[in-house]
Amino acid sequence: MIHARIIGTGSSAPKKVLTNHDLERMVETSDAWIMERTGIKERRVVERGQTTSDLAYEAAHRAIKAAGITAQDLDLIVVGTLTPDTAMPSLGCVLQARLHAKKAAAFDVYAACSGFLYGLSIADAFIRSGMHETILVVGAESLSRFTDWEDRTTCVLFGDGAGAIVVQRHAGKRGILSTHIHSDGSLGDLLHLPGGGASHPPTHDTVAKRMHFIKMKGNETFKVAVRALEDVVQETLDHNKVKPEDIDLLVPHQANLRIIQAMAKRLNMSMDKVVLTIHKYGNTSAASIPMALDEAVRDGRIRENSLILLEAFGGGLTWASALIRW
Ligand code: COA
Repeated sequence: MIHARIIGTGSSAPKKVLTNHDLERMVETSDAWIMERTGIKERRVVERGQTTSDLAYEAAHRAIKAAGITAQDLDLIVVGTLTPDTAMPSLGCVLQARLHAKKAAAFDVYAACSGFLYGLSIADAFIRSGMHETILVVGAESLSRFTDWEDRTTCVLFGDGAGAIVVQRHAGKRGILSTHIHSDGSLGDLLHLPGGGASHPPTHDTVAKRMHFIKMKGNETFKVAVRALEDVVQETLDHNKVKPEDIDLLVPHQANLRIIQAMAKRLNMSMDKVVLTIHKYGNTSAASIPMALDEAVRDGRIRENSLILLEAFGGGLTWASALIRW
């Protein structure tokens, strides 16, 4: 059986820390409110001049090193991001140039917080089809550049970072067992970034109306997220004929601790089987899952043959999951 197997992981976060107490000085909020409602204590933010590709490059470099290959071995680069350095070229192409990955085709996947799992799904399909052999999948974001630092309902949530994995064709039982991706564009206005695209190109007016920042109806998004994630996790278990107790580790997208706890409860899973990074990184969108994966690989929580469940929900709306035999 041909599988796409993850052979290396890497991650990167900016050095600059923004704590809840820092935010108390910027908007009307409190450390207690943010901790209670989200589980976030602090987040990392890029510094002036630092870009998403800087984070993506560092994460990719580490993943390639961990995989024991060189960038020249890559034949595809897929990047999940909603905050590329530029609308064109893609972050994938910027990264390809920086890595000197001359053999690799490169492109971005635009699925917000589900971007990494959408990218993983593409990589899995391309490897199974025989089209590609060795693929770099990245989730990288600088959400702080698109955060309205005067809007307390969103600015406490987001952070910056990047994670990367190398997947390779593997004839055997280990690897990605299945991926599941879904969308509901009719609910797109629950979580959106209205300015900067073809419908509202940047003008003084769009800037004055703060249209270049992320907007979210948090409470409504929360409810849809829990329902959609429950469904996609069940779909994944059913598809693989796996029971919740078979799962060794849950690596969820880190949007809200309460959503993560709801998923763990639904799976009857104790929280020590869940990888949590939200307290220190906040919601890093497409980067959160590969960052958490890398952490769990490096601290030994993920071992050979571990059964790992990944799930994510984000703007679009989009949601996704994957089951991996490590
Ligand atoms: N500090 C203090 N008070 C705040 C606040 C802040 N940072 N942000 C909002 N509030 C206030 C609201 O104004 C509201 O006040 P009101 O009752 O006087 O109107 C109150 O807190 C409750 O707001 P609400 O939005 O209902 O809170 P919530 O419990 O839903 O928590 C989120 C808000 C954003 C943390 C939560 O809804 C969430 O995480 N949503 C889903 C995020 C997600 O999954 N996104 C998709 C993936 S990216």
